[in-house]
Amino acid sequence: MRADYEAIQEESARVLSYIAADHLDAETQQRIIDDSLENFPKYVTAAILKSRKSYADTVQVAEWEDEGAIFRDTKGHEYIDCLGGYGVYLLGHRHPRVVEVVKHQLDHQALHSQELIDPLRGYLSKLVAMITPGDLQHTYLVNAGTEANEMALKLARLATGKTWFISTEKGFHGKTMGSLSATGKGVYRKPYLPLVPGFQHVPFGRADAVEEAIRQLTLAGETVAGVIVEPIQGEGGVNIPPDDYLPSLRAICDQYACLLIVDEVQTGMGRTGKLFGVDHVGVVPDIMTLGKAFGGGVAPVAAMVTQHRFWDKMEENPFILGSSTFGGNPLAAAAAIATIHTVVSEDVPGIVAKKGEYMLRRLLDIRTRHQDRLVDVRGRGFLIGLEFRDDADGYAVAKALFRRRILVGGTLNNARVIRIEPPYCLSEEQMDTVLSGVEDALSELAE
Ligand SMILES: Cc1ncc(COP(=O)(O)O)c(C=O)c1O
Repeated sequence: MRADYEAIQEESARVLSYIAADHLDAETQQRIIDDSLENFPKYVTAAILKSRKSYADTVQVAEWEDEGAIFRDTKGHEYIDCLGGYGVYLLGHRHPRVVEVVKHQLDHQALHSQELIDPLRGYLSKLVAMITPGDLQHTYLVNAGTEANEMALKLARLATGKTWFISTEKGFHGKTMGSLSATGKGVYRKPYLPLVPGFQHVPFGRADAVEEAIRQLTLAGETVAGVIVEPIQGEGGVNIPPDDYLPSLRAICDQYACLLIVDEVQTGMGRTGKLFGVDHVGVVPDIMTLGKAFGGGVAPVAAMVTQHRFWDKMEENPFILGSSTFGGNPLAAAAAIATIHTVVSEDVPGIVAKKGEYMLRRLLDIRTRHQDRLVDVRGRGFLIGLEFRDDADGYAVAKALFRRRILVGGTLNNARVIRIEPPYCLSEEQMDTVLSGVEDALSELAE
């Protein structure tokens, strides 16, 4: 039932006063938590409160402010962020350079008319062409990774005139209908079946399985438009393929004249210790998608980037066919330009490679003392997975770390693999705090 205008004004004014406050008094701190515990089940969903792995039994924590590698709850407690927004916070929380640039942009223009030329779109697209490998050149800007993958799939069909896609078991590409069709996790797909037809899932890391699928489809008279993969599966549990996987996929796609789509939404911008996951093996995809860290942890922005020959040859230009109201808006574009500037000028991939190596080495060492529970430790740069013998141990460690004010990520629907995806600015001291937290949590579990 619609509330009266007075009540709406009163409620919104109250919240606006919280947003504007420099400091929350004790009463307001508690009020925000109480409001949230009422609002989520009633107006959002109770499922969010229940599904959080790190604090399912301590939900009285609401995040309120952040900077660098930490965030604070409404009561001012500080947490080290080793979940990093599942990849969003590569540059940390509110990187000063990105915030400064976005504020400058906000002071003269936020969104755009939709009709005239918006210059930042052009500047950003040029910079994307400059940072991506090979002849990737044209960029299509959107708001989320899943939208970028939608365009990638649509473009592959337009550019090849072919139909099928090969994707991978446990692969994750988003949750809109097309991307979800490519996603290889039954738990997300099953409730929405039938999805977009023409997707075949094969085991990740096995190029021979991709070739076999294409061969069978071709024999049956079908056509294959593309192969879509992550360089390292993130949501699937930090799965790293053999070094020859992507080069072999490149060769297979060339042989069968279908497009290689590499989803760098989670791995891109330096997360794995190189600018892009494909840079570890020198492969140039036909289409690459970006998201998460692309907006510097400040603005939601994602992108699909492709070669000139696929983008501009069509009568029906995919940019016009796929236009998005907010995609690449000036605020988001400003954030992404500042992100590229920061990633390159601070050598974020180099920093992540060094720090990631240290973390991985120390975690492997911890594993030697807890092999019965911690069955594997793997990763590249600051995308690290800890695999436990079962969900229960994963949950227990995530919770024990959260009690020590360290946030790590389970994969969304299981906790057997915990992801450590911290910002590049995680200090040595913070790394050591996290490492001793993991060791202590495991020792606690053993007792
Ligand atoms: C590899 C990959 N692709 C696509 C997506 C979807 O991105 P978004 O949630 O921004 O739609 C994700 C999100 O986790 C991802 O990890």
